[in-house]
Amino acid sequence: MTMRMVIDTDTASDDAVALAMALRHPGAEVTAVTTVAGNCPLPQTTSNALYTAELCGSEVPVYPGAAAPLQATADYATWFHGMDGLGDRGYPPPSRAAEDTDAVTALIEHIRADPGVTLVTLGPLTNVAEAVRRAPDIAGKVGRCVVMGGTAHTVGNVTPAAEFNLWFDPHAARIVFASGLPIEMVGWEICRGEAGFTEDEQQQFKALDTELGHFFIDCNATALESMREQGADRMELADPTAMAVALDKKGVVTGAGRHYVEIEAESPLTRGMSVVDSLDVTGRPPNTEVVWSIDIPRFKQMVYDAARPR
Ligand code: RIB
Ligand code: CA
Repeated sequence: MTMRMVIDTDTASDDAVALAMALRHPGAEVTAVTTVAGNCPLPQTTSNALYTAELCGSEVPVYPGAAAPLQATADYATWFHGMDGLGDRGYPPPSRAAEDTDAVTALIEHIRADPGVTLVTLGPLTNVAEAVRRAPDIAGKVGRCVVMGGTAHTVGNVTPAAEFNLWFDPHAARIVFASGLPIEMVGWEICRGEAGFTEDEQQQFKALDTELGHFFIDCNATALESMREQGADRMELADPTAMAVALDKKGVVTGAGRHYVEIEAESPLTRGMSVVDSLDVTGRPPNTEVVWSIDIPRFKQMVYDAARPR
């Protein structure tokens, strides 16, 4: 059965790979892409989403969303991904425009029209928070809400306490985790270490000699330099990790548990921290399925398959 999917993204280099995985997956139909500010300003993330869809031969509608967090000041990650979010490789502008409808309206309309749809979020949760605030009923209409975001009992990547997507708009993240959406949380810790692509594994993509094989590696070159500055020695692709969980949960997820998760929104020290009650000490009902481990080779094969010639 084909999985119908809506993707919310702050399209930069790792988002682009995740988008391509979904757009080229034989078992998935992406019915909408909504864009949000995060890695880059909104116009750039929207352009990157359109460009990536074009590379995949997809006409999926792209709906621009929030240009700023609900309350926090936008603090982009162009330092990490490059000014254009795609490694400043000089890719051409997309040949088609985004939709006139805004992302929040599109999220509400697509979810109401397609109960059971899988929502995958790859960026800050500003659009999704606005959508559930405007239309609380959609929380019960989404089949799965796979969130690349947060960290469960481990280090953050933008502060010691928080992962970028939840840190960028902590108020939105707090709303979404309390909304009743069926959240599956893929934290940054799942995407690191052995889940990163070694130099040899990166060369395997280049050896395919396909446009996407080159694109996956080239557009992430700046991000790889940034990762190395942070002490990593592999190309860690967070959004593709979450996308693999979304596309093949049974095959990819090897450990998960339902826990109460709450997001800190006010503290300057722990803004955006995902506080995971894995010992149930709060007694609060679980609101999130936290992914604790994945089948790394299977995840990597899914990324590789997306770059193969069709
Ligand atoms: O922390 C990693 C996340 O932040 C990824 O989604 C990456 O694209 C950035 O948005
Ligand atoms: Ca992202």
